[in-house]
Amino acid sequence: MTEREPLEPPPGRAISLRVNGIVHTIPIEDRDLLVDVIRRRMAMTGTHAGCYNGDCGACTVAVNGAIVKSCLVLAAGADGAEITTIEGFARDAELDPIQEAFWAEDGFQCGFCLPGQLFATRDLLDRDPDPDERAIRGALSGNICRCTGYVTAVRAVRAAASKRRRA
Ligand code: FES
Ligand code: FES
Repeated sequence: MTEREPLEPPPGRAISLRVNGIVHTIPIEDRDLLVDVIRRRMAMTGTHAGCYNGDCGACTVAVNGAIVKSCLVLAAGADGAEITTIEGFARDAELDPIQEAFWAEDGFQCGFCLPGQLFATRDLLDRDPDPDERAIRGALSGNICRCTGYVTAVRAVRAAASKRRRA
C-alpha cells in the first residue's frame, strides 16, 4: 500500500503513552488508530501498516504486555498504556535471541512481516517454551508473509525456543 503522509498535529486532545520505556504526550484526533500514531506522529516506522483490517499482523506491538494488532486499536483507547514496538524489542543494544534466531535461520526476506513474527514468537515462547510445529504455525498464523513460505520462519522459532531453553 502507498505510505500515507505524516499526520499534522491536531489541536486539543492529547494522550500519554509510555513507548519503549519513554513517556510521550501525543496530540491525537479521536479517530486516530494506534498504528498511525506510532508510525506517523511518532515516526517509529518499524511498526508496519499493511492491511488496516487485522489480517496481516505487520502492525503488531505489545500493549501492557499483550500483543495486539495496532490497526485495530484506537489511539485514544491506549491512553496511559505501556507499549513496546519493534524498536524496543531488543534490550541493551543486543539483539534478542529471537531476533538472532530469525537472522541465523533466514526466517525473513524483505522483513515487512518481521516485527509481527517476532512479537508472535515471543508471545508463544512465553507460554510454551518447547512448542511443536503445529503450535508454531498456529502462533504465526496471524502474520502474513509473502516471501518465506514460513519454512524458515518455523525453523527460526524452533531455534529461538532452543536458545531460550539453554539461557
Ligand atoms: S495493518 Fe494491522 S493487521 Fe494488517
Ligand atoms: S519476509 Fe517479506 S513478507 Fe515476510
